[in-house]
Amino acid sequence: MSTDDIVRRFVEYFEERGHRRITGSTLLPPSGDPVLFTTSGMHPLTPYLEGRPHPLGRRLVNVQRCLRTTDLEEVGDPTHLTVFQMLGTWSLGDYEGPQSLDWGYRLLTDGFGIDPRLLHVTVFGGDGQTGPDLSSLELWQERGLPVELTVEDNWWDNGPTGPCGPDSEIFLWTGDTPPQSTPTGDDRWVEVWNHVMMRHRRLDDGSLVPLPQRNIDTGLGLERLASLLQGGRSVYD
Ligand code: ALA
Repeated sequence: MSTDDIVRRFVEYFEERGHRRITGSTLLPPSGDPVLFTTSGMHPLTPYLEGRPHPLGRRLVNVQRCLRTTDLEEVGDPTHLTVFQMLGTWSLGDYEGPQSLDWGYRLLTDGFGIDPRLLHVTVFGGDGQTGPDLSSLELWQERGLPVELTVEDNWWDNGPTGPCGPDSEIFLWTGDTPPQSTPTGDDRWVEVWNHVMMRHRRLDDGSLVPLPQRNIDTGLGLERLASLLQGGRSVYD
């Protein structure tokens, strides 16, 4: 499956489920955003995650070019690029996390043909400020996938302040042996898709307040998925 085929299948899958495609934005983030470059598809959408109505509605899908400075030390390994394209979906105060995870699971397995026995997921286990993400845990247990609970690895933010929340990540086994260990225990588990339950805003003093609406923000690296589906040794292939 070529990268064009992957983009088409991804976008059509979410359009069939009521999402409108938005155009990818510049690598320069909106003014006031705490990052130097656009590192994720959500950056251009920050005002809408914070409650401004989006002209195309509450369900969006896109392909966003990203430059992720936090990953620079990892560029050159088989899975990280300096600049990459992120396939993204959003629920702006519409459907909740389990719906997003279920669509993601079905697209990866039925749509892209990934063997569910090669998948592992991680879920936010809770910390002093926020409780465990039980609705994601329940969805994955119903689907029969192995789950690892973590704290820092399952919290996503776009900088020290701003929208943030617990996330659930889907990993694919890339080893030559049958799957073993867990995503934090063996780096042959490669992250393919992150689903963020973006419902908090972090303030300057580190405290969390609820956003005006409960959003979902997901991101999937196009080159990484293509290399995994095509059996490439790395994203450079
Ligand atoms: N914003 C989330 C990420 O970049 C989806 O992983």
